[in-house]
Amino acid sequence: MTDANGQRVALSAALVVFGATGDLAHRKLYPALASLATQGQLPRRLVIVGVSRTRMSNEDFAAEVHNAIAKAGDGDARHRQTSLDERGVQFRYIAGSFDDDDTFRRLGEVLAACDAQYQTAGNALYYLSTIPQMFGKVAAGLGKAGLAEEPPGTFRRFVVEKPFGRDLATSTALDEQLHRYFQEHQIFRIDHYLAKETVQNILALRFTNTIFEPLWNRRYVDHVQITVAEDLGVEHRGTFYEQSGALRDIVQNHLLQVLALTAMEPPASFDANAIRDEKVKALRSIRPLQPEALLRSVVRGQYAKGEIGGVEVPAYREEEGVAPDSTVETYLALELDVDNWRWAGVPFYLRTGKRLAHRATEVALRYKQVPFLPLPPSAVDSVEPNTMVLKIQPDEGITLEFAAKVPGASFRVRGVELDFKYRSAFQEHAPEAYERVLRDAFLGDATLFIRADEVDQAWRVVQPLIDAFGAGTVPLSFYPAGSWGPPEADDLLAHSFGDTWRTP
Ligand code: BG6
Repeated sequence: MTDANGQRVALSAALVVFGATGDLAHRKLYPALASLATQGQLPRRLVIVGVSRTRMSNEDFAAEVHNAIAKAGDGDARHRQTSLDERGVQFRYIAGSFDDDDTFRRLGEVLAACDAQYQTAGNALYYLSTIPQMFGKVAAGLGKAGLAEEPPGTFRRFVVEKPFGRDLATSTALDEQLHRYFQEHQIFRIDHYLAKETVQNILALRFTNTIFEPLWNRRYVDHVQITVAEDLGVEHRGTFYEQSGALRDIVQNHLLQVLALTAMEPPASFDANAIRDEKVKALRSIRPLQPEALLRSVVRGQYAKGEIGGVEVPAYREEEGVAPDSTVETYLALELDVDNWRWAGVPFYLRTGKRLAHRATEVALRYKQVPFLPLPPSAVDSVEPNTMVLKIQPDEGITLEFAAKVPGASFRVRGVELDFKYRSAFQEHAPEAYERVLRDAFLGDATLFIRADEVDQAWRVVQPLIDAFGAGTVPLSFYPAGSWGPPEADDLLAHSFGDTWRTP
């Protein structure tokens, strides 16, 4: 089915939210649903079924969803809030534990009633807004109650957030658990970075233009820097972060996904599996990290107290839920090598950190030095390498940095910038990541979700780091909040042209 603008809209369905009273559902999911409603992008008939331990009525649940939307709201909140009602969205609530078969039996009854009363057509999207430890339990509960099977002409999809496992072994075990009841085409693993317009634009830039691709290889690129920098600390998620650290929180998923899109070969089509095939191949080409070489290729850091935007902020160890002697990393920089014909000899430098100087996510391709510079060094104001920067956020766009002649009688050159900005080039509404994720899950478009073999391969890449961090063989450096991380991270780039991290 398509809407007035020719966009595909999903058929009728029930959206079952496990962990319906939780933080994630309130902050992200419900506001995204409301926003989709205002754009006419929700399924034609939709029943939202909340499942959680807290006791409440259907009406209380509906009120809670509306409150969450109002709270998350900007100026449009009121409009968005009413739009769910205008669209005739219905609410049902089931109080119960995910350990209890009876919860799933009752869910089956509610879904059958929704089919009969609201023509939800046997379709269900199961959205896991729970702690990861529940993923397997919920899959088993659904499976045993016969709610995972897809009768002909219907869909039953299982949508999970990261983290998918804690390491290679737990991720494999979880995958086995889910596959006991669901087939791979039913499982939608979210990495919200893939839903960002600018991340998807990496594909558009590379594979719908002729001018960039010839420059996208070892012949011209000296090295690649991928940065995910945040100025925020761990906020109220200290307890979670203590179990995760930057490696599991950002590197294993968001950073490796961005690397895969940057390094992959052209796909046969923009179809979900064709793209994911190429991403997995890129991830498989990453040279396994050798434990004895980690001291040279990895820098771990943790933020000490400091100042951001003129405001003093505490050290990580002083955050709520964090052990006073915690050795969890809030910063990680590493070098990865992609061993294939396109990238052999081109290091990929990845870094991420919390409480850095400001928020910026970008991919920077730094080009090689000219083979010979026919100018005296005094004629060159700055010898910054040519750089193409894909600015993922917050100032979305693409810049190309190169040298140009300084106007005047003498021949001098200086660095300049070509600057494309999304904001000025397009007027179209860019959907929030969660809007996109939900819409695609309803439609069954898996392009922006992670396939089992991608998750598996990403864990294989980081497993040597998990082992080494666990064994304490990679030292932890401290950096003041508001800085660009530990100075040791600069040493990683010592042998690359330009030999420093860019300041985004
Ligand atoms: C999440 C991490 O996946 O991504 C958070 O768990 C992090 O720690 C967030 O802050 C960053 O997302 P974004 O979209 O703000 O770059």
